[in-house]
Amino acid sequence: MTGQEVQYIKEAVEEGHLSGNGIFTQWCQQFLESRLKCNKVLLTNSCTAALEMSALLLNIKPGDEVIVPSFTFVSTALAFVRQGANIRFVDSEETTPNIDPLLIESQITHKTKALVVVHYAGVACQMKRIMEIAQKHNLFVIEDAAQAIDSYYQGKALGTIGHLSTFSFHETKNIQCGEGGFLAINEPLLAERAEIIWEKGTNRAKFFRGEIDKYNWVDTGSSFLPSDMQAAFLKAQLESIDTIQKQRIHISEKYEHLLNPLVLKKKIKTLHIAKDATNNGHIFYILCRDLEERTALISHLKEANIQAVFHYLGLHNSPFIKRSQTPQTESFYECSKYADTLLRLPLYYELKDQEVVRVAETILDFYE
Ligand SMILES: Cc1ncc(COP(=O)(O)O)c(C=O)c1O
Repeated sequence: MTGQEVQYIKEAVEEGHLSGNGIFTQWCQQFLESRLKCNKVLLTNSCTAALEMSALLLNIKPGDEVIVPSFTFVSTALAFVRQGANIRFVDSEETTPNIDPLLIESQITHKTKALVVVHYAGVACQMKRIMEIAQKHNLFVIEDAAQAIDSYYQGKALGTIGHLSTFSFHETKNIQCGEGGFLAINEPLLAERAEIIWEKGTNRAKFFRGEIDKYNWVDTGSSFLPSDMQAAFLKAQLESIDTIQKQRIHISEKYEHLLNPLVLKKKIKTLHIAKDATNNGHIFYILCRDLEERTALISHLKEANIQAVFHYLGLHNSPFIKRSQTPQTESFYECSKYADTLLRLPLYYELKDQEVVRVAETILDFYE
């Protein structure tokens, strides 16, 4: 929390426009468009909703195929499965949990419509290679940038490289409004329809701007827009983005520094950030040597009253996918490695330096 959240909610109530697309929504959208340098932003109720909008916008239909990394959150795949797509999962690369670009082409068929990439921990995928592959095969690219606010690749904000990008403002994210997110529309040809899908298939947004004299049902869609009360909360967070980011990156760098002796002794690994990528301080993770070691470390930290958690289980192995799709025969070795060995350390704005030191010392103590 930054302090202004409740004040702005009060202002939204006094404004008397609590439904979507009010003054706070418009402020947040304009702020994000200029901060990211992106064509168009629409606030949504979640990153999941923004992914669902993407699936509708790209006309994903039964029988289409969509390529998705296995090491990700359910929504990355679910939004497309709901439209009837079959998912082709791809393993992570060796150095990061992100999709391995070298394995993408083997999954492309004449049915492939889109490629969804996830910038895990806010660290960029290899976007240059990914965009080249997509261009060669005429595929849409969606960046699932749920974790990637204010992170960069070759100087460009993540979320501005693919045709569409989706972000999360869930309370676990750097910038939050409880539940929330947005869709960034980088392909200008998709912008007008995105606004219609956002507003229940109507051209109401155009009507509100005075561009047409009545609004009508013109397409498919849903109610994807959040209330202006959520946007009021979000404005307070966005106004403090530089302070929040500075503190989170500080915590991440402090962990990196304090745990470096274990990295040098090859007992653990930490985030790998390529030269053309940045760290946005979303997640600080370590990689243990195996599952047994990680389980023991989690218990050791718990005894010291420190909560550290692992992350995704590969989606290719989920009960839902096993039940609804023909199993893939490829190896998901890297994905399984991250599922078994990755451990996220506490990282939030209010975390004090001495608490970071205590977490690091407890980990050093475990390995000694
Ligand atoms: C990679 C990724 N995609 C999508 C989501 C879904 O975000 P939301 O909770 O805003 O729908 C998350 C949530 O953590 C995520 O990590």
